[in-house]
Amino acid sequence: MPSTRPSRAPRHRAEPVQHAGGPRRRPRVVAFVLAGLFLVAGGTAGAFALTGAFAPEPEPLAQTPAPKPTRPPITPAPTPTPTGPYRESLALTPPMGWNSWNYLRCNDLSEEGVRSAADAIVDRGLAKMGYRYIVVDDCWQSGRDADGRLIADPERFPSGMKALGDYLHSRGLKFGIYAVPGTMTCANYWDRYPVRGIGSLGFEALDAQTFAEWGVDYLKYDWCRADINDKMTEPPAFALMEEELRATGRDIVLSISEYGESKPWTWAPGIANLWRTSHDLHPNWPSLRDHINAEAGLAKYARPGAWNDPDMLQLANGLGPNENVTQMAMWCMLAAPLFIGTDTAKLEQKYVDLLTNPELIAIDQDRLGIQGDRLRDDGDVQVWGRRLADGSYAVAFWNTSYSNLTATATLDELGLSGTFSMRDVVARTDLGETSDAVSVPTVPHGTTMVRLDPVR
Ligand code: GAL
Repeated sequence: MPSTRPSRAPRHRAEPVQHAGGPRRRPRVVAFVLAGLFLVAGGTAGAFALTGAFAPEPEPLAQTPAPKPTRPPITPAPTPTPTGPYRESLALTPPMGWNSWNYLRCNDLSEEGVRSAADAIVDRGLAKMGYRYIVVDDCWQSGRDADGRLIADPERFPSGMKALGDYLHSRGLKFGIYAVPGTMTCANYWDRYPVRGIGSLGFEALDAQTFAEWGVDYLKYDWCRADINDKMTEPPAFALMEEELRATGRDIVLSISEYGESKPWTWAPGIANLWRTSHDLHPNWPSLRDHINAEAGLAKYARPGAWNDPDMLQLANGLGPNENVTQMAMWCMLAAPLFIGTDTAKLEQKYVDLLTNPELIAIDQDRLGIQGDRLRDDGDVQVWGRRLADGSYAVAFWNTSYSNLTATATLDELGLSGTFSMRDVVARTDLGETSDAVSVPTVPHGTTMVRLDPVR
């Protein structure tokens, strides 16, 4: 793809992963034998990284919501060198697609489920609106072979990952996959996924190469307590995988997920294409509300190729009707990645229409990449706004109350002057012109989004 890719040598070398006790290991596997990392922190034995039969017992299944693990303070780590233009060129607008987790989670994940989701994404017109990355989340792995290569579960993915990638590509889609920087995946903790030895710690280069050979276009690299379990720190751990992906010569978007704990917006731009800003979004109002509120003030860290990620869509998974609209409209206001996480084959047409609303998607995908920010919070209505590339402006009125309310913003507070045409981009109706203020009805937990175009 882009001609901006730097040649492989010299490459910026990221700082090595901070596991006390020596330099980063290259893959070196003896079958069924201790993989050989004995992490020593502060003079005391820290943790084992094990493969084969000597895996630690799984932790007990967490109740929902999972208790937030206590973590030791993050050891200050050297800030890795952002790789900048090449990395950013891989996702100049927020990535869009489908991810298996919110729908199939761990135990229902299968090749058939992924293919059927992908087929529906194409057949129902979602792909042509931009939903192209089909991401296989956690629980596809069944271990490593004698050479240390990750292997896909042969029961869940009987055709294998290369064949799945080929299929997705043949349908005009892109292939995404899930991995973790430490020794255990999140499903190892929270879903009692029993397979051990599937983390990328010590296998970063081999895993990146394997993904490239399978035709992977997008990696979701998920933290999963690597600090607690493996004594790792976020910036160098993620930067290392960025480096290894780049070294494969294949263009692979890097999505990182550490739940906002190390403030990745301060160090991840130029290293990851997107970074989670919070813990998992659940399909209920408090979770949706908190995830949106957590974005206030983060707009200044996003730019084309480097996006805040408030987590995947829970649209059509149990949110109220107005809340579904809010998620879609506010995610577009936030220039957020849009990953559908539901049964696309059975999805009601009204949700397909919402997900493919071209006026909302145009705002999300605006090439300026200016994330919307909160301009005002009245307690029951919040006003968010963003500038768009063609000189227009999008303003969202998010009703956080249980009442129908009329919401107003003056052009002055939006930083605008002149006369503007107004269009409700959710309802897709024209609202006339204004030279002083925008005033619109809003519904409980809903969002009314208006695009203001200067009138010549
Ligand atoms: C979580 C992550 C989820 C999903 C899950 C897989 O940490 O936030 O989006 O990837 O792990 O186990």
